[in-house]
Amino acid sequence: MMSKHEKTYTTKANFMLHGGDYNPDQWLDRPDILADDIKLMQLSHTNTFSVGIFAWSALEPEEGVYHFEWLDEIFENIHGFGGRVILATPSGARPAWMSQKYPEVLRVNASRIKQLHGGRHNHCFTAEVYREKTEKMNRLLAERYGNHPALLMWHISNEYGGDCHCDHCQVAFRDWLKKQYNNDLKALNDAWWGPFWSHTFNDWSQIESPSPIGESAVHGLNLDWRRFVTDQTISFYQNEVVPFKELTPEIPITTNFMADTHDLIPFQGLDYSKFAKHLDVISWDAYPAWHNDWETTADLAMKVGFIDDLYRSLKQQPFLLMESTPSGVNWHNVNKTKRPGMHQLASMQMIAHGSDSILYFQWRKSRGSSEKFHGAVVDHDNSTENRVFKEVTQVGETLEKLSEVVGTNRPSDVAILYDWESNWALNDAQGFGLETKRYPQTLQQHYRTFWEQDIPVDVITKEQDFTSYKLLIVPMLYLVSEKTISRLKSFVENGGTLVMTYISGLVNEHDLTYLGGWHKDLQEIFGMKPVETDTYYPNDRNSVRFNNQSYELKDYATVLERDTANVEGIYEDDFYAETPAVTSHSYKKGKTYYIGGRLEDQFHRDFYQGLIESLSLEPVFPVKHGRGVSVQVRQAPQKDYVFVMNFTEEKQNVTFESSVKDLLTGEEVVGNVTLEKYEVRIVEHQKS
Ligand code: GLA
Ligand code: ZN
Repeated sequence: MMSKHEKTYTTKANFMLHGGDYNPDQWLDRPDILADDIKLMQLSHTNTFSVGIFAWSALEPEEGVYHFEWLDEIFENIHGFGGRVILATPSGARPAWMSQKYPEVLRVNASRIKQLHGGRHNHCFTAEVYREKTEKMNRLLAERYGNHPALLMWHISNEYGGDCHCDHCQVAFRDWLKKQYNNDLKALNDAWWGPFWSHTFNDWSQIESPSPIGESAVHGLNLDWRRFVTDQTISFYQNEVVPFKELTPEIPITTNFMADTHDLIPFQGLDYSKFAKHLDVISWDAYPAWHNDWETTADLAMKVGFIDDLYRSLKQQPFLLMESTPSGVNWHNVNKTKRPGMHQLASMQMIAHGSDSILYFQWRKSRGSSEKFHGAVVDHDNSTENRVFKEVTQVGETLEKLSEVVGTNRPSDVAILYDWESNWALNDAQGFGLETKRYPQTLQQHYRTFWEQDIPVDVITKEQDFTSYKLLIVPMLYLVSEKTISRLKSFVENGGTLVMTYISGLVNEHDLTYLGGWHKDLQEIFGMKPVETDTYYPNDRNSVRFNNQSYELKDYATVLERDTANVEGIYEDDFYAETPAVTSHSYKKGKTYYIGGRLEDQFHRDFYQGLIESLSLEPVFPVKHGRGVSVQVRQAPQKDYVFVMNFTEEKQNVTFESSVKDLLTGEEVVGNVTLEKYEVRIVEHQKS
């Protein structure tokens, strides 16, 4: 078996990638600028460029008329200085001739309105002709560039997302449903709770995707539609990669995943746990709103860490940061630029959590259209002297010293379970507080304690192996199938510690509630059952007494009926005052905990402290520090690479208890060290 410290070179490159989206197709009439690009790439210590992402109209300006000369030249010029190319397929946006000649490539939205040509990321993912055109284009790219020494990876399309409700998609949806329900319409009616509002179908052709002018109240339909959208997107992707699998099996393939902002949470539109299985490398586009006015820098850093740990855990291997901005973006409400030092800090945080790249959107600022003020490495001034260019160069120089970190991972004893389907179903649920469900944010709240204490966490999904973890945290798992319940049960039986919370285990995989109370296997392992979930108004408060301290509770409280569980905490107010709020239970070789209400951060710190001690969970490499400093480690067989990051606006003192070597300066570091505002120190610790 492979040691958990073994390196995985996901892109086959043994250096950190630095660079990003390069759109020379916007500058083909400016050879002087294209020549400058090549010089500036070297001056900025960048080495990898994602090319062709929206270049369809430059590659095929008229149907069947191809222009690859410009791309040949870009390949040669980048190769000329030792740079590498991540070549993208252009399916993220179409040329106008295609929409005009083949209108079926255009989407129909949920209100059944046919979309016009324009924008991007708006193709029908079923349309045969778009699939054919895409496959043809990708084949030409594979044939022409597949053996080019500069080619590093394939970047398929761009940020897949959204859905299409056209007639072709309706047919595909019905076919998908027939497969799911073994051609049994009664089974579908049962799963969708058909008799409700007379929603029983007697022919497959009556089924339509959810719509604001039609059906949106059938939760089983909504859930199956979202599953179908994921599967149909993957099917479109699989069609795109046929030529690459055939002609260039050695070249790794990725597509760039996203996150949702304003609150930085995982992207909700597609089930990435399914998509991940089809990719060689996970990559994502991270645009945290640094220096915003609603949270601290450390709070935001914690959320970035959570998403990194989720996307890294999808394949349990290093990932790529495919896009980020060296300054500000153009699509937040307020597009603030990164303050001095933040670019280095934010970049090193990505590396610390498992990225083998720092890539940007975009290389050179556009001159026109909506992204002309989006941050870029090269500004309109074309200068190497501005602050942003210099900070990018600094990141490049740093990455050059981190080559040996490439491929290393972050083994961990703690896992938090994230589930896209459960979140979809919970958001659909009319009940509880419509504004307060906040499933991803709740997971981040549980993650926080471990982040603050530098204890590595994997954020895993329900299909993944639980057995290697000591502690599995499952907050708000609203939708849970019997299969998952039995996997959770065997995790505990075999010695695992499981934490669950309010609003867990309420519905099955069809979004149908469990009858007869909480599932009997859950009752058995928890030694109690939740019997009533109380939802609070925004200003309502309760509290829970735990270990002789009182902790504030808001939003949710579950009334519990104890069987053999121990009572660890009790509600202090309301009609369930003095009844159990937090319980524990020993079951076979393992132990379970149930947290009945939404409690303040301090509760999580104190609650998890008990588990951290009893399960001997420890930071990989101990560094003493105050709040707002994060220490994250990537591990090689003989060495730990330790990233000590100050996510506060003040100086911070940290203490290294044993001697380590600064990876950037080479000097020995031991004892007390002061970190400036936003400073990061990267040290290596030789394992004995
Ligand atoms: C996304 C896209 C890019 C660009 C950036 C701007 O991530 O993939 O093409 O539009 O947003 O932040
Ligand atoms: Zn369609």
